[in-house]
Amino acid sequence: MAAGTVCELSDIAPGGSKRVMLDSTPVVIVRIDDAVYALHDKCSHADVALSDGEVDCDLKTIECIRHGSRFELETGRPDTLPATQPVRVYTATVIDGHVVIHDSENGTKEAR
Ligand code: FES
Repeated sequence: MAAGTVCELSDIAPGGSKRVMLDSTPVVIVRIDDAVYALHDKCSHADVALSDGEVDCDLKTIECIRHGSRFELETGRPDTLPATQPVRVYTATVIDGHVVIHDSENGTKEAR
């Protein structure tokens, strides 16, 4: 894979998601059409992977499978209870079919 690539766009079905690891941090990559979003793959309410939840392409949210809080893909904010705290979002782009995450704290990151 190219430097900074965490997966290929073709690894994720439109409207689907995929978990990748950045160092020891789980990140969920969500694909809507040819756009990608990246969030910390852990619900802010409990230790549950958001990548197990359902993506809503119209609302641009991913729903926690445990209690149903929906997190906005662009901001990480929950728009439904019981979660009240946002999850971290990362800047993700597609470059030549590769999904790349730009970590503002540490520069471009590569999955391990
Ligand atoms: S664990 Fe995600 S909403 Fe409760």
